[in-house]
Amino acid sequence: MKILVVGGGGREHALVWKIAQSPMVKKVFCAPGNPGIAEIAECVDIDTANIDGLYTFALKQKIDLTVVGPEDALMSGITDRFREGHMQIFGPTKRASAIEGSKVFAKTLMRKHGIPTADFKIFEDIKQAKKHITTCEFPLVVKADGLAKGKGVFICKTPDEANKHLDDIMKEKIFGHAGDRVVIEEFLSGEEVSILAITDGNAILPLSSAQDHKAVYDGDKGPNTGGMGAYSPVSFITQQLQFFIEENILVPVIHAMKRENRPYKGVIYAGLIITSTGPKVLEFNARFGDPETQVLLMRMKSDLVPILLSTEKNTLEDAEIEWNDGASICVVMASKGYPDSYEKGVPIFGLETIKALNHVQVFHAGTAIRDGKIATNGGRVLGVTALGKDLQEAQKAAYGAIEKLSFAGVHYRRDIGAKAIYREK
Ligand code: AMP
Ligand code: GLY
Repeated sequence: MKILVVGGGGREHALVWKIAQSPMVKKVFCAPGNPGIAEIAECVDIDTANIDGLYTFALKQKIDLTVVGPEDALMSGITDRFREGHMQIFGPTKRASAIEGSKVFAKTLMRKHGIPTADFKIFEDIKQAKKHITTCEFPLVVKADGLAKGKGVFICKTPDEANKHLDDIMKEKIFGHAGDRVVIEEFLSGEEVSILAITDGNAILPLSSAQDHKAVYDGDKGPNTGGMGAYSPVSFITQQLQFFIEENILVPVIHAMKRENRPYKGVIYAGLIITSTGPKVLEFNARFGDPETQVLLMRMKSDLVPILLSTEKNTLEDAEIEWNDGASICVVMASKGYPDSYEKGVPIFGLETIKALNHVQVFHAGTAIRDGKIATNGGRVLGVTALGKDLQEAQKAAYGAIEKLSFAGVHYRRDIGAKAIYREK
């Protein structure tokens, strides 16, 4: 088989790495990819927004399956375009990916179908929104409706803070039309967990649990990022809790999408918070998580390719996944300044040394070739991912590998997995 992976970050590097190991696969292409991916697949210089370009390439190369990484391609209708041309593709349609693209849609769907989530109200009018917050308890959460690169959510401690963010989103339009509407919701406290499941629109196949570390600094301080690191499995997700999540969140959301005439195929990512009254949904994403995918695929023993294919063939019911019993961890090495502005083109040292390490994979995210050498090219640069017999061993291996890697201004969190290790003691 020939497979095309769309995207060029750490998540796509992990997908390509896993897919390339399948005995079913003869060749993997990645568009646009990155220098790490280029070592194991053929990278093609087509942007993820160029749906026609990707379709034409896939048709010409007789690609058997296209796997989509980023949400923008899904929301631009890549899946719809490929299916119209009878090309196999893994991912939800444009209408189905609204579950990530619009928080208003996702929250309304959850309320209508009884899926547990924070209580909320939706506003199109800033005056009404501001009036509403005078009646609210604090902290409360203000969310822009549309995609905002993970920056559209604000936890507000005071009415002044909430008013400021409402002004930024609805008046100053810092996120453009993504801020035409806002969701104002109750603040929830608890541990967060990412539960991903593959679905063919009927059956669901949940993956193992993972926990992201969104804040930029140690101790969950500082602004949120796309994710500074993750680990898997999450020990507080007991078998019982996992079943509860499947029965009360994953199965209902897939059925709800079907009933709303937006049948959902692909991977659904539930961002959950485990409150004192049970798990509640913070958000749904229509794609694999980044860096959750890196830790999940590191632990996945089964071949991923037949699972991806079974969503197109509607045979997921028969599929199973085998996991490594140990634990995996991913520590993101980021550019100085991320998630705000940062420099690009800074040379990276030590990548060759790492290749000799067992149970460690360095997934490239924002890297590029500059003057014949690998250099930084984004906020999140590398995802150093390790597998161990337990989380402690995996953590030691990942941070051991990081010591061998360097670039000027590198920033990474020193406490990925630390809370979980402390909890398990
Ligand atoms: P979201 O993009 O909706 O998942 O929000 C990003 C992050 O904001 C989440 O991972 C949480 O840490 C935080 N967050 C979002 N909604 C809430 C809420 N209702 N209560 C507490 N924290 C929240
Ligand atoms: N790690 C968070 C996300 O993929 O949205």
